[in-house]
Amino acid sequence: MYQIAIDGPSGAGKSTVAKQVAARLGIVYVDTGALYRTVGYYVREKGVDKHDAEGVTALLPGIRIGIRYVDGVQHVFLNGTDLKDAIREPEISMYASAVSAIPAVRAFLLDTQRDIARSNSVVMDGRDIGTVILPDADVKIFLSASSEARARRRYLELKEKGVDTTFEDVLEDMEKRDRADRERDVAPAVAAPDAVLLDNSDLSPEESLEAVLRLIRERVPEAAK
Ligand code: DC
Repeated sequence: MYQIAIDGPSGAGKSTVAKQVAARLGIVYVDTGALYRTVGYYVREKGVDKHDAEGVTALLPGIRIGIRYVDGVQHVFLNGTDLKDAIREPEISMYASAVSAIPAVRAFLLDTQRDIARSNSVVMDGRDIGTVILPDADVKIFLSASSEARARRRYLELKEKGVDTTFEDVLEDMEKRDRADRERDVAPAVAAPDAVLLDNSDLSPEESLEAVLRLIRERVPEAAK
């Protein structure tokens, strides 16, 4: 069994690359952002201020998160309901980022993430996978790109999904969220000292995937077979 950690800011293409890596290597892809999004969704549903640490913490006992894989695709259940794309709304991104700065929320989601990696070979994407969740991961990659490149990709992705937004709004939200994720006190979104930094601003999705696969195969004999 082996573990691959892919961290980095939003829109760097972490989930696209991680999904393809999982399919190529036949391992499990874990999208940890979806867990924070699920908590954020619940907090919005309950009408609690997303920055109110005490109020959000008080909600946690009412949350039961389940993860199931159907044809290799991760489905996250909130108290038994599959939230599907509802957690991808731009508003939920801001909720997810805000609640992810609350230590009790991070502690609440820790075991769910580690448990999956204990019983499966995984490629896990997030912000603190290489630093906190899987500090002994076999490969750690910090994937990044310029904020313009990332916002452009995210804008096109949202537009394709029919979400009504503008490039400027996406860029502004993204920069705000990344700053908050990077500068928070607990598990800030920074590269682990032993992570390989990969800037894919000028790479196509295919080139980005090849670069990541190369790094993995160099470090994990099992994946090179
Ligand atoms: O990867 P994403 O955009 O779906 O993540 C949504 C938010 O969740 C992100 O702004 C920060 C937070 N997050 C985190 O703090 N730690 C993770 N491992 C994954 C996501």
